[in-house]
Amino acid sequence: MEAAGERMNLLLCCLGIAALLRSSLACPRTCTCSIKKNGRLLAECAYKDLQEVPEGLSPNVTILTLSANRISSLWESSFSEVPEVQSLWLGYNQINSIEPGTFAQLVHLKNLDLSHNKIVDFPWKDLRNLSGLQILKMNNNRLARLPRDAFYSLKDLRSLWLNDNDLTTLAEGTFDNLPSLSQLQIFNNPFNCSCKVFWLKKWTENTSVSITKGGSILCVAPSRLKGRAVTDIPDHYCVAPSVQLTYLSNLDNTVMYDGLTLTLHCSVAGNPPPQIRWKIQTSSRSIEINGPNVARNGNILRPELSKQSQEHFLVFKNGTMAIPNFSKDDEGIYTCLAVNDVGTREVSVNVALAGSENPADDLLRNAPQASHLGGRSCYKGDELDPSGAGEKLVIVYHMPRESKSKAGGVSQIWLGTLLLTLGITLCC
Ligand SMILES: *[C@@H]1O[C@H](CO)[C@@H](O)[C@H](O)[C@H]1NC(C)=O
Ligand SMILES: *[C@@H]1O[C@H](CO)[C@@H](O)[C@H](O)[C@H]1NC(C)=O
Ligand SMILES: *[C@@H]1O[C@H](CO)[C@@H](O)[C@H](O)[C@H]1NC(C)=O
Ligand SMILES: *[C@@H]1O[C@H](CO)[C@@H](O)[C@H](O)[C@H]1NC(C)=O
Ligand SMILES: *[C@@H]1O[C@H](CO)[C@@H](O)[C@H](O)[C@H]1NC(C)=O
Ligand SMILES: *[C@@H]1O[C@H](CO)[C@@H](O)[C@H](O)[C@H]1NC(C)=O
Repeated sequence: MEAAGERMNLLLCCLGIAALLRSSLACPRTCTCSIKKNGRLLAECAYKDLQEVPEGLSPNVTILTLSANRISSLWESSFSEVPEVQSLWLGYNQINSIEPGTFAQLVHLKNLDLSHNKIVDFPWKDLRNLSGLQILKMNNNRLARLPRDAFYSLKDLRSLWLNDNDLTTLAEGTFDNLPSLSQLQIFNNPFNCSCKVFWLKKWTENTSVSITKGGSILCVAPSRLKGRAVTDIPDHYCVAPSVQLTYLSNLDNTVMYDGLTLTLHCSVAGNPPPQIRWKIQTSSRSIEINGPNVARNGNILRPELSKQSQEHFLVFKNGTMAIPNFSKDDEGIYTCLAVNDVGTREVSVNVALAGSENPADDLLRNAPQASHLGGRSCYKGDELDPSGAGEKLVIVYHMPRESKSKAGGVSQIWLGTLLLTLGITLCC
């Protein structure tokens, strides 16, 4: 009898353990759940024809395999039962819709496999929360766009698979801020090899990241590069802009009747030929002019675009800007930007007016090291002072006594021009 009692106790005890196990092993009918040697809880639900993420998973699941099912949508609540999950395998489904927030709560994720689905839009912001992610597989989907900062918080990301998607371009810097990245797959995407992706060639040449099948990152456009590898884009096709700003003065021995006309000339080089834009920052206003507003014949272009304030600044197609009747109000920072698909360069000059009877006084007072007087001078974008304020150009005008008396009241102004050089090489 005693033995029977003990057996009974044993049985009850075993049942108890089983019940305990069952609760900690809560497992949907279609799945197989098990505790791995390292104590991790594995829920295997692959190859089950599932159309949804199953319910009834233990909150302790750390590995969840749902590969090779027929899941097409993921919702914010799809994985709310498994907040501890570290590895989530969702490859070979039919996922085409992912609600924002689906992954944001899975802060313990280390491995996420979404390969071989039909994903067009992904809630990239969800990745910001996944700072422990090490492996991200999104290959064989239909991704056509990738935000530049999609991966910025993934400090531990080692492996990134984006091959076999519909990416036509990648923004420069997409793979910055990934200190752990060691393997990248981006082949088999229909890259448009405009100079917007030229950075990728330069990056692959210099990075320590192993780029799988780098030679198979092919261009499908433009036609002249079709079939060629991104890494083979000839360097001379894509040349970053260079820019230099010249101050042209014909004032040295000119009598001006109409006030001072300041003329700045911005010359640019690069491939594709850069566009020229101007930014003007005076004490009272900020103006941007993104193209010529005066035709060669002097007619105002695009009058609907040129606000009254802009008409004062005459921007010509050849890179010249003229500011007639330059006044105290026009003092400020004049910036010329050269923009093409490879990048942007800018150069600024800080223009100030100073009135004096003797320009040499001002020159000596303001910049004893000044080495240049009048005529013409230029500033190269490459040598730009990083503070961005621009080098200082001071225009000193003066009215000689004899001219005042001779002209007898007529506003006839003699102009002298002084350039103060502050830590910059003068050229031309
Ligand atoms: C989850 O695991 C912890 C120990 O890691 C355990 O105490 C707890 O009972 C488990 N919860 C469930 C619902 O299984
Ligand atoms: C991101 O993670 C934090 C915890 O680290 C959590 O509080 C927050 O809710 C998560 N964000 C989202 C959108 O789930
Ligand atoms: C490629 O990109 C360039 C520059 O962005 C664009 O002008 C051109 O239309 C694109 N070509 C194709 C085929 O998408
Ligand atoms: C190449 O990489 C090194 C560091 O790995 C960096 O200092 C250098 O600026 C890079 N050169 C170019 C051209 O990007
Ligand atoms: C640019 O064009 C304007 C108007 O045709 C002309 O006055 C100016 O001298 C030109 N600038 C240069 C540097 O050729
Ligand atoms: C400059 O100002 C004078 C009067 O102050 C005016 O007669 C002249 O038309 C102005 N010139 C331009 C180009 O605006």
